[in-house]
Amino acid sequence: METKQRRIRLNAALRDLASSESLNYKKLIQPLFIVEGLNEREKMDSLPDVFRDTERSVLKQVESDLKAGVTHFILFLVPELKSNTELPKSFYERAISSLKKEFPESFLWIDTCMCSLTTHGHCGLLHKDGSIDNPSSVKHLSEIALAYALSGADGIAPSDMMDGRVASHRRILDTNGFSQVPVMSYSTKFKSNFYGPFRAAADSAPGHGDRSSYQIDVRNREDSILSSIRDQEEGADFLMVKPGMTSIDLIGPIREKTGLPTGAYQVSGEFASIHYLAQNGFCDFDSALRETWQIFSRAGSAYLITYAARRGKEIFQ
Ligand code: PBG
Repeated sequence: METKQRRIRLNAALRDLASSESLNYKKLIQPLFIVEGLNEREKMDSLPDVFRDTERSVLKQVESDLKAGVTHFILFLVPELKSNTELPKSFYERAISSLKKEFPESFLWIDTCMCSLTTHGHCGLLHKDGSIDNPSSVKHLSEIALAYALSGADGIAPSDMMDGRVASHRRILDTNGFSQVPVMSYSTKFKSNFYGPFRAAADSAPGHGDRSSYQIDVRNREDSILSSIRDQEEGADFLMVKPGMTSIDLIGPIREKTGLPTGAYQVSGEFASIHYLAQNGFCDFDSALRETWQIFSRAGSAYLITYAARRGKEIFQ
């Protein structure tokens, strides 16, 4: 393990995530979906207590989440118009700055990807033959990251899995005065069957093909670990495995090899499966959820993105 000085200064909220304590409610990150042009917030049938929020309803949601003890949020911004060239900068600006203005104590990570933006639902731009155009994707994604930072994002969370995106985000952030904005990379992200409910929420299912050319193959352990090491070398501050439960064996090795706080994303399909079991009388939702969180903690997960972060205090008791 390299012993390098930490690149950014950690404020109190980031120190909670980075600490090597067991998981506790301060280490949970609450996902929020903000949908441009939506008139009324929509409930998600597969994810209990998760909503597709309007720009207005999300303010109430964050107010009540802060009261419940949440500090960290990850925002998924779903623009009304799909475009492969234009960035919906005014939507980003409104969505992020109105939350920051109202709730400066919140820590807002913004998921950086193109799948909710593009006409084809892939995480990057495509060549004419349908294959991924990695260099133009990285350039476009970095412009998104900068637009988020300019709108007041506290942290950038790239989930697209294009090669070299962490280095490129770091460069554009640093050269524009955002060297203290941390990057939390989805550093070991698998091609998975467990993202289904999310894709409905974020309007981001690929129109054709799948994500196997840019997401990792679950059968390959070396690739999985190397992918996180590369992101560390490119300047990521926080690493992540995803889906969480099916990558539990990788958290320890990644943390040991990189020395970086490594967390997990308990993804929509994992969360929904607990919900469906409970709904059919096969388990108690809260105890089953607590069990999964205890397992993430045992595995050394430094933080956890989970749809029930807002119930963290209650469930961890
Ligand atoms: C965007 C993204 C996805 C998730 C987080 N960011 C979907 C995907 O890669 O297809 C999944 C999260 C979840 O299932 O809860 N790329």
